[in-house]
Amino acid sequence: MDKKELANLAIKARQMSYSPYSHFQVGAALLAKDGRVFTGCNIENAAYTPSNCAERTALFKAVSEGVREFSMLAVVGAAAGQSEPFPVTGPCGVCRQALNEFCELDMPILLVTGADSWEEVTLGQLLPYDFGPRDLK
Ligand code: THU
Repeated sequence: MDKKELANLAIKARQMSYSPYSHFQVGAALLAKDGRVFTGCNIENAAYTPSNCAERTALFKAVSEGVREFSMLAVVGAAAGQSEPFPVTGPCGVCRQALNEFCELDMPILLVTGADSWEEVTLGQLLPYDFGPRDLK
């Protein structure tokens, strides 16, 4: 699984977005250290607060199947109907913290702008002065 393949799985996952309120469609693809990929989309709700982001959908799918070690994440977000180039969309603060529970700070995150284009950051860059399980050891 290379970066381009993971980026394209995120783009494909975005097609499943259920976002009738924001009309902002997000897809994520989370690569586990065992080579499996867990994808997710954002899932909104009429009561708004129960909505879930694409990144946490992917993360929680993995953890609920016993997978807790990850090596890379790809995320793509754009308004419904928008085609490439997609805007750079970073994980929200809640997702950054949720990822920090299971991922190392040097894990690459691809902010996908197209089938063969992305900006690459690390979780640590997105979550400076983090608080996580390492602080409670
Ligand atoms: N959203 C995500 O799924 N991931 C992000 O990284 C940013 C925001 C979703 C939440 C909501 O369904 C919509 O995008 C607009 O905020």
